[in-house]
Amino acid sequence: MLPVMFTAVMKMVEVYELKKYFAVRRTGQWSAKSVLKAVDNVSFTVRMGETLGIVGESGSGKSTLVRCLTRLIEPTSGKVVLDGEEITKYRKRDLRKISKNVQMVFQDPVSSLNPRMNVLSIISEPLSAHEKISKTERKSLVVDLLKEVGLNEEHMYKYPGELSGGQCQRVAIARALSIKPKILVLDEPTASLDVSVQAQVLELLEKLQREHSLTYLFVSHDIAVVRSISHKAMVMYLGKVMEIGPTEKVVNEPLHPYTKVLMKSVPIPDPDSVLTEPAIQGEPPSALNPPSGCPFRTRCPNAVDECSLADMTLKKVEEDRYSACILNQRRSDS
Ligand SMILES: Nc1ncnc2c1ncn2[C@@H]1O[C@H](COP(=O)(O)OP(=O)(O)OP(=O)(O)O)[C@@H](O)[C@H]1O
Ligand SMILES: [Mg+2]
Repeated sequence: MLPVMFTAVMKMVEVYELKKYFAVRRTGQWSAKSVLKAVDNVSFTVRMGETLGIVGESGSGKSTLVRCLTRLIEPTSGKVVLDGEEITKYRKRDLRKISKNVQMVFQDPVSSLNPRMNVLSIISEPLSAHEKISKTERKSLVVDLLKEVGLNEEHMYKYPGELSGGQCQRVAIARALSIKPKILVLDEPTASLDVSVQAQVLELLEKLQREHSLTYLFVSHDIAVVRSISHKAMVMYLGKVMEIGPTEKVVNEPLHPYTKVLMKSVPIPDPDSVLTEPAIQGEPPSALNPPSGCPFRTRCPNAVDECSLADMTLKKVEEDRYSACILNQRRSDS
């Protein structure tokens, strides 16, 4: 992980009370609809040059959250400010003007690239959409981008089907970088790659961050990956944020009971990491009918009556550390 070079500098990503509710049909009842709170009142900030790792079990709302940040999915409510510009106030058709600041890289590079386009066209597509450039300029920019991501001119006329998974992901990264964004949103970018290729792609991302002062939002279910690349970690459960803090602290000294069981469920090669909490209990509740108060309370080994009543909000409990657990909050108040 790189040291953050710009700590005193501005916030690059600001998210305030973001919600995404889906109206879903209830099983067997064609007319009845329920509300699924995929992202529920999420707020956080990321500083320039920093990587925020977003972790949580499947279905916790990680992808929905980051897709709302790029307006690939329309949020239900809330405010998103990227590089000082409130993108949630723009109409969808005006979004292209400001979308230059943020680009996305998806999990499956093979399916996220158009199989009928060659690498030259794939990488230069966002570029051509944003500005008029000559064919010669386009080619020379693509050659530079290919070199930046560890490929070369030879790859320019190849099609995705002729490339390996790792090479495809490098092309997807080059494509995202083509319009010089300040923020990259990476949704499980290495999950479909072999471990050795995964390490190379992570190294590439670190190099690019260093060279271009990029800010990353990095979604992963793999704590080891998040630990290696993220400065801060944010833990989600049923659409809500449970804990945010410096990655090493969140991994080695988790505060929230959910983070404790999440960390316990993954092997972390660190002899100093002593986690004594019991493993996770019970079945995950339905996202359509989450428990009142803290959504984790029905599986939480430390739950008290008040957890069902408490209005769950993330609060500062230590320097640079935020938790939504009322027990953590109470301890910090006393
Ligand atoms: N278009 C949709 N319509 C209805 N529900 C949706 C839709 N997209 C996502 N959901 C629901 O929202 C919740 C969050 O889904 P999301 O894909 O964001 O989770 P995730 O944390 O990215 O999971 P994974 O780790 O499996 O990728 C889930 O309960 C999912 O079923
Ligand atoms: Mg996802």
